[in-house]
Amino acid sequence: MIRANEHFSKLQASYLFSDIAKRVQTFQDANPDVDVIRLGIGDVTRGLSPAIVDGFRQGVEEMAQDATFRGYGPEQGYPFLRDAIAANDFHSRGADISADEIFVSDGAKCDSGNFQELFAKDIKIAIPDPVYPVYLDTNVMAGRTGTYEDGRYQGIYYMDCLKENGFMPELPKTPVDLIYLCFPNNPTGATATKEVLRTWVDYARENKALILFDAAYEAFIRDESLPRSIYEIKGAKEVAVEFRSFSKTAGFTGTRCGFTVVPKACNVYAADGTKISLHGLWNRRHTTKFNGVSYPVQKAAEAVYSEAGKVQVKEYIDAYLANAKVIRQTMADLGFDFVGGENSPYIWIHGGGRDSWDFFDLLLNKAGVVCTPGGGFGRCGNDYIRISAFNSLENVTKAMERVKDALK
Ligand code: MLT
Repeated sequence: MIRANEHFSKLQASYLFSDIAKRVQTFQDANPDVDVIRLGIGDVTRGLSPAIVDGFRQGVEEMAQDATFRGYGPEQGYPFLRDAIAANDFHSRGADISADEIFVSDGAKCDSGNFQELFAKDIKIAIPDPVYPVYLDTNVMAGRTGTYEDGRYQGIYYMDCLKENGFMPELPKTPVDLIYLCFPNNPTGATATKEVLRTWVDYARENKALILFDAAYEAFIRDESLPRSIYEIKGAKEVAVEFRSFSKTAGFTGTRCGFTVVPKACNVYAADGTKISLHGLWNRRHTTKFNGVSYPVQKAAEAVYSEAGKVQVKEYIDAYLANAKVIRQTMADLGFDFVGGENSPYIWIHGGGRDSWDFFDLLLNKAGVVCTPGGGFGRCGNDYIRISAFNSLENVTKAMERVKDALK
């Protein structure tokens, strides 16, 4: 008898964004004339920038000729891309990350979901609440949690991120081995200073813990005093892995490309305390289960770091940040309490006493606007909704007008 992985039965019925997509489809079927504006899932809407398209095209053209055709590439990514990443994303910010510590992949969602495979079953995990659901769900699938009770999985150490603590996770009061952090944060849009990250790096070093740092939204940081990488903090290379993505930075949600940094100085431990190289483990997993990102996509990603690419990508993100400003202004005018949207594409809005799914339904039914109910990110999100800035300025402006009318 083929038996199921019964840990899957502990999960919520469906993945948050699939659930929302189904609800929106049901609404759209019943109301075919409503022009629904999607500010829910953080999916980009702008076309790829010209320099990136040129890189892509060059890659495709090379693939069309026998002389320049490429079959399997290095699983970890082509040196041209890994070198460009190391120089531009890390060396330029004083972070000493070498190209061979960078693993190019098909995105931060897959990597942040897969990375837990490297750890023992019985480690203690600290996860923020609210949180990007992938970190939690993949650990549930792997059997690292108990059942779901009262909005929480047994066995997980939840770090509440609320208005009272500035939406910042606090250091765990009991020891943990693995810590998930995400800044700029999804879903709250909150950002962490260097001082805040330093407390986490110190904690991890003192407790032989590991930080999985999701920096998928770093390109939205406009405040130069804020760190874009955890490796800007001294000592982080020994205790932190970083996930990065071209999805939101350069419009690759459909194109698929990201990378994970696993420093060679980073170790995990066998039960007897022997050090094991995390870089070696991830390399073994990656080469076994992944055959690399397609050559044209890596050429497109390389173009993000060209002189023209850098200018275009900045303009690209500025456009979404301008949308975020419109959303923030509307929420302020309506008297809502909110955070995010300044160095992040997400605005996290307190519903003023409304349950998050009720607020979601209200905006969908009365304004034809899709947001994301905060409760989908955890119990601490029950009183919030997340509005994403990923759409055109025209649509965001129209959506905010409709929201104003709906909430009058
Ligand atoms: C989100 O809306 O939270 C993100 O788009 C999800 C993702 O990047 O997978």
